[in-house]
Amino acid sequence: MRQLWLLLYLAMVTLGSAAAQTQAAPLKTNGDVWWKHAVIYEVYPRSFQDTNGDGLGDIKGITQRLSYLKSLGIDAIWITPMYPSPQVDFGYDIADYEAIDPQYGSMGDFDNLMKAAKQQGIRVIMDMVMNHTSDQNPWFLESRSSRTNPKRDWYIWREGKDGGPPNNWQSWFGHSAWTLDPKTGQYYYHYFYVQQPDLNWRNPEVRKAMYDVMRFWLDKGVAGFRIDAVSRLFEDPNLHDDPILPGTNAFGDPNIEHKYTDNLPEVHDVLKELRKLVDSYPGNPVVISEADEPNILELSKMYGTNNDEVQLPMDFQIADVNELSATKFRKLFDEVENNPAHGWPEYFFSNHDQARQWDRYGDGKHNDQIAKLMAALLLLPRATPQMYYGEEIGMRTTVPTRVEDVRDPVGVTGWPKDKGRDGERTPMQWTAARPNAGFTSPTAKPWLPVPPSSVTYNTEVESKDPNSILNFYKQLLVLRRTEPALKSGAWVTINPDDPNVFSFLRHYLGNGRSVLVALNMSDKPQMVTYDLTAQGVQSGIGLMLLNSYGYEQKTIRMDHMTIPPFGTAVIGVK
Ligand code: GLC
Ligand code: CA
Repeated sequence: MRQLWLLLYLAMVTLGSAAAQTQAAPLKTNGDVWWKHAVIYEVYPRSFQDTNGDGLGDIKGITQRLSYLKSLGIDAIWITPMYPSPQVDFGYDIADYEAIDPQYGSMGDFDNLMKAAKQQGIRVIMDMVMNHTSDQNPWFLESRSSRTNPKRDWYIWREGKDGGPPNNWQSWFGHSAWTLDPKTGQYYYHYFYVQQPDLNWRNPEVRKAMYDVMRFWLDKGVAGFRIDAVSRLFEDPNLHDDPILPGTNAFGDPNIEHKYTDNLPEVHDVLKELRKLVDSYPGNPVVISEADEPNILELSKMYGTNNDEVQLPMDFQIADVNELSATKFRKLFDEVENNPAHGWPEYFFSNHDQARQWDRYGDGKHNDQIAKLMAALLLLPRATPQMYYGEEIGMRTTVPTRVEDVRDPVGVTGWPKDKGRDGERTPMQWTAARPNAGFTSPTAKPWLPVPPSSVTYNTEVESKDPNSILNFYKQLLVLRRTEPALKSGAWVTINPDDPNVFSFLRHYLGNGRSVLVALNMSDKPQMVTYDLTAQGVQSGIGLMLLNSYGYEQKTIRMDHMTIPPFGTAVIGVK
């Protein structure tokens, strides 16, 4: 008897301390944290809203438009870099990490934005560019000043070889990744533009400097970071040549595999360190990674073996399917929804680096209908969706037609094969007013031209049209907030062999309805039959919650349902 009590006592003590431990441990992805249910909206500040008539968007403009974002149903904004910068890469070349570029406003404007955003319940996520700085950053100016400067080792300096660069590594933006600095006779390494020298992440001072930057912004109350180009932080110290692949790229260089400059294992040490840093702040700040991972195993590694790295790795595999294929989407969604790290997925289709989804997935005839389907595909899975400004109104990619109009340097180097990224960065279309659609004053010259489509595709016109893309987004976002199944339901793909209709169920395990989403990815009407008895759904009748094709009845038969070309249906089932 005594022994039994002792055993019981021991069990209680261990259980008790286990419980205490789980409480004390930092909240990892297991908790019901804000970012799992948030909708993140990417703001490209240069193109969002200009308030002083210089044709460039600014911080005050973002503040002014917070109420629009609120009414849309956004929870957080990710703002691409607005730190002081020569703007060669439009902010991704940072000259000072702890200040605001006067083009965009002042630190006071930023603080006001933070205050206003807090009032609206919108979180602010900053862009952290850690792989490289601007060549005008004082760190680099010092580093390049002499071979013995204390900051020399903050960047990657190497001797040339045989009268040329140290090896065959290539810049993402064309040509050699090495530039000779005549002053000291050595080459520096840059994965991106010549004006973006790579930092040396093996130097502890560099790490400390960057972590201090993160603290600076966390102290200001930002809700986390989108980490730029994470997979490029380290490169092979032995400078092995990258393998050459067949053919040439848009810049006329031989294709190569970035084998020795991408995804080196040390990246994960850094991700662990910065996750610890972020976890030491209250409010569960989030780390989002930009990394074009080639497959689910690489993507899954980003979460860390113990969910101790990135909470939300952006899923480029899904963003870049580039065709409406139920089979391809089903495979990729299933993979990431069941990823081995049990990490929480993050989806997007458009951003400032790739052609907008309206044209990339549109077929030239049904683009608006397809835009609504893509919206449902983005917003209804078990994941954190990331939107890009203007996708909610069906903004299209508007590429320059003459090389002399190109602003993104990569579009000049790559012309005409690669026309750069101006096309997806045109000003936000707020009103029907010509020529500037409410982005800037009518007499100003916006930094990129406002597309003619702005007359019909803008927030003003679309908010009055119940069938607009904008109103479809709004309704989807309301459903996301109000349907428990869309918040916490499991992910189950349904009719796995259907080549045309991608169907998934957000299976609600509580006492309530589940939500079935049916997306006809073909240009023909499709008849579908659903048998959801395996998921405990007995009723053969579903409740139509939302559809994109004007089906007006409240209920729908599950055993015999016709979905028009590119139609989207969201159905409640029990
Ligand atoms: C990321 C950014 C891109 C930038 C590059 C270099 O890919 O999204 O816009 O050019 O990093 O910083
Ligand atoms: Ca401005």
